[in-house]
Amino acid sequence: MSNYAIILAAGKGTRMKSDLPKVMHKVAGLTMLEHVYRAVQAITPAKTVTVIGHKAELVREVLGDKSEFVMQTEQLGTGHAVMMAEDELAGLDGQTLVIAGDTPLITGDSLTKLVDFHVNHKNVATILTAEADEPFGYGRIIRNENDEVTKIVEQKDANDFEKQVKEINTGTYLFDNKRLFEALKNINTNNAQGEYYLTDVIGIFKEAGEKVGAYKLRDFDESLGVNDRVALATAEKVMRARLTKQHMVNGVTFVNPDATYLDADVEIGEEAVIEANVTLKGQTKVGARTVLTNGTYLVDALIGEDAVITNSMIEESTVEAGVTVGPYAHIRPGSTLAKDVHIGNFVEVKGSSIGENTKAGHLTYIGNAEVGSNVNFGAGTITVNYDGQNKYKTTIGNNVFVGSNSTLIAPLEIGDNALTAAGSTITEDVPMDSIAIGRGRQVNKEGYAIKKPHHPSQQ
Ligand code: UD1
Ligand code: MG
Repeated sequence: MSNYAIILAAGKGTRMKSDLPKVMHKVAGLTMLEHVYRAVQAITPAKTVTVIGHKAELVREVLGDKSEFVMQTEQLGTGHAVMMAEDELAGLDGQTLVIAGDTPLITGDSLTKLVDFHVNHKNVATILTAEADEPFGYGRIIRNENDEVTKIVEQKDANDFEKQVKEINTGTYLFDNKRLFEALKNINTNNAQGEYYLTDVIGIFKEAGEKVGAYKLRDFDESLGVNDRVALATAEKVMRARLTKQHMVNGVTFVNPDATYLDADVEIGEEAVIEANVTLKGQTKVGARTVLTNGTYLVDALIGEDAVITNSMIEESTVEAGVTVGPYAHIRPGSTLAKDVHIGNFVEVKGSSIGENTKAGHLTYIGNAEVGSNVNFGAGTITVNYDGQNKYKTTIGNNVFVGSNSTLIAPLEIGDNALTAAGSTITEDVPMDSIAIGRGRQVNKEGYAIKKPHHPSQQ
């Protein structure tokens, strides 16, 4: 039988106090909606319909052509939101997963088990539930004396007895598709929030004598519904623990996993060592045996094997095997550091390619440059790439020795094996094998210092 999926993502998320629609807030670098979408793929739905409304276009972009979309122009409740999918799904044989877009921790594994449970029990509706220590805010699962589910009661509609119930509705359900849309015709807004509650269909099925069940998650964490930023931080913490655990199982050492911040898609090779306070964002990949020390911050960075990145920031750049960076270096977007390059303290590289084994040990800026292999940059070298309007390129050959405090005014080419004298301002191309000296000559005025107040003879 075919599976279908409806993701509810039309709400504003008033309690987030945000301009951004709630489901677009991120957990481990991915929007909550994307997390939910990924989990849903585990049941291979023949069709996924996402209900959008508040700032619909922004939300639509998250999933693009991976989902069908239906509009809910007014957010009249979760039941109303599901009704919006009627044109897409009603009349199809099969079963439909309904999931809230604000539950980013639910796993594909649990959804698969929910489907199996639903099918095995021949239910018309199965609720994914969990046991909460603090159930406040969630819909409660009400059971009769035979332990059968009879209905779901929302927090705001619950009586004192119902408020004591700790089994909560995760906001995820499996329904017989046709029966779902039939039952929705019978819900109303007679409740504390004046909304069409999806949860009311459970009571409707039960009263009609249909088979309703609940599949209870073992782990409450999965069911977390993010309605405010406190819950968002909790979701981040749980996700972080999951991600670091998976990497540890794969052979990565974390000195303090609780203090390592990584996004969902980050990849790390075996035997890598990640110290505390390291942040790995976006599509970052870290090679085997690489060491990232305290304070390192990588955004969409590709780091090769056996590299050592010491307390440095690297963005949208490629760093090959054996490279050492830092401490306190900044590799900005569009840079490539070839094998065994050394970038030392207070060095900034931007939009540049640096050849194998080249070294810039200290206090240097390399921007818009193409640098060969085995080049040595003396301390204080600057590529002067910007005249206030345009950026210009510096090309440096292989085996070049750039003297300390060289100012290389682009556009500029320095040929292979050339040398620039320390303190030079280089404005013209330097041919290969040459020495370029671009500095004023020193003049010594003998005896002139005697009259100066600093001189011992004047004191
Ligand atoms: C809902 C459930 C509650 C459950 C909880 C789990 C109902 C009535 N209540 O409450 O039983 O314990 O989730 O987290 O369903 N949405 C729309 N259109 C709307 C309203 C909501 O698309 O008109 C979307 C929201 O964007 C959100 C999801 O549905 O992604 C859930 O809505 P929310 O307002 O967060 O419901 P809860 O109060 O958390
Ligand atoms: Mg919610």
